[in-house]
Amino acid sequence: MVNGMLTGKQILLIISGGIAAYKALDLIRRLKERGAGVRCVLTAGGAQFVTPLSVAALSENAVFQDLFSLKDESEMGHIRLSREADMLVVAPASADLMAKMAAGLADDLASTILLATDKPVLFAPAMNTRMWEHPATQRNLATLLDDGLRAIGPGQGDLACGEVGAGRMSEPMEIVAAIEDMLIAAAPAAPLKGRRAIVTSGPTYEAIDPVRFLANRSSGKQGHAIAAALARLGADVVLVAGPNNQPDPTGVTVQGIESATQMLAACETALPADIAVCAAAVADWRVAGETEQKLKKDGSGRPPVLALVENPDILATLGHLNAGRPRLVVGFAAETEKVVAHAQDKRVRKGCDWIVANDVGAGTGVMGGDENTVHLITAQGVEDWPTMSKDAVADALAGRIADHFAAG
Ligand code: CTP
Repeated sequence: MVNGMLTGKQILLIISGGIAAYKALDLIRRLKERGAGVRCVLTAGGAQFVTPLSVAALSENAVFQDLFSLKDESEMGHIRLSREADMLVVAPASADLMAKMAAGLADDLASTILLATDKPVLFAPAMNTRMWEHPATQRNLATLLDDGLRAIGPGQGDLACGEVGAGRMSEPMEIVAAIEDMLIAAAPAAPLKGRRAIVTSGPTYEAIDPVRFLANRSSGKQGHAIAAALARLGADVVLVAGPNNQPDPTGVTVQGIESATQMLAACETALPADIAVCAAAVADWRVAGETEQKLKKDGSGRPPVLALVENPDILATLGHLNAGRPRLVVGFAAETEKVVAHAQDKRVRKGCDWIVANDVGAGTGVMGGDENTVHLITAQGVEDWPTMSKDAVADALAGRIADHFAAG
């Protein structure tokens, strides 16, 4: 792999119809060998020139083709396809797709994504010279550039249609260079560069026997979003996560664990760190004497008695470390009553600097939901934050952490 600035970047490549689509296959390879993740959308026209199978094999990812496919949409909606990408690349960009983009049409998956995205877009036109020179295409080009999209090419040369002139799609390596260029320009400030962060997320599973366990309903959404937000600000993040269905956040080292004991061990291994954010819903208790064999009914009709022992408190352990305590230890307090008062008490008891407190009572929809209404409790006081998506809470918290370190 060629290490460089594409390592860990996610590129969404839209391949539209045109003979140059074969060059998109090479582009996928070039991007992959530079460490980028590539997801591809193939338009109906594009699929006339390259097969979904080659695109999937080279990108090592599913190929997305249909706006109304239940399967594609349930696995990965068009909004998520764009949200999880660092940038969009349209190569080749046919005259038809350019016209749709310029007009804001959204009648297939590719054009819908292009209308819905807020990510940088690079497009590589490829078409017959006369189509390229047509005033309509030139008008569309001007509109797209005016809208802030960036074009590369087309180059001059022999065209597949036998004519000579402008219309040849830029070579894959030229497109790679333009992508790198745009990612440098789009790179956000990295105020947490050089800082190490440990984030816990998700539930823990506490085994009863080899097949049964105690668990809780934590989805891991908030913790994963915080890990991703810290990484976007340049932090070197280890995410210690209990079993969950969230995708691994980009640019984060993920350490999967099951039990609270394993979570603590993984956090201790990840030390030293500047920042610890404990967002996991750690089980307070585990079963004493987990059996090696599956518990069986003994015929008496009496259920087994499960004795519980208290789990280690990861937040309190990190918060009370004498040597090597992370400079900023942040905990969460999921409460159902007296939210702020309980959280203030928890901040002191667990030796942490900040507590993000939220109401998880019945009807709040926080557990497993996408939104969160939190209060940030520090030694200085309480801030009430408005209801936001969990992603927005994560960005706001990461921003506050960056400000804290910037203030020294
Ligand atoms: N926490 C932890 N390890 C545990 C229990 C909790 O690290 N064994 C962390 C959570 O990740 C969270 C914070 O402690 O950051 C608060 O968790 P919460 O369940 O609200 O607190 P409890 O310790 O269970 O307190 P209480 O029983 O009073 O609600």
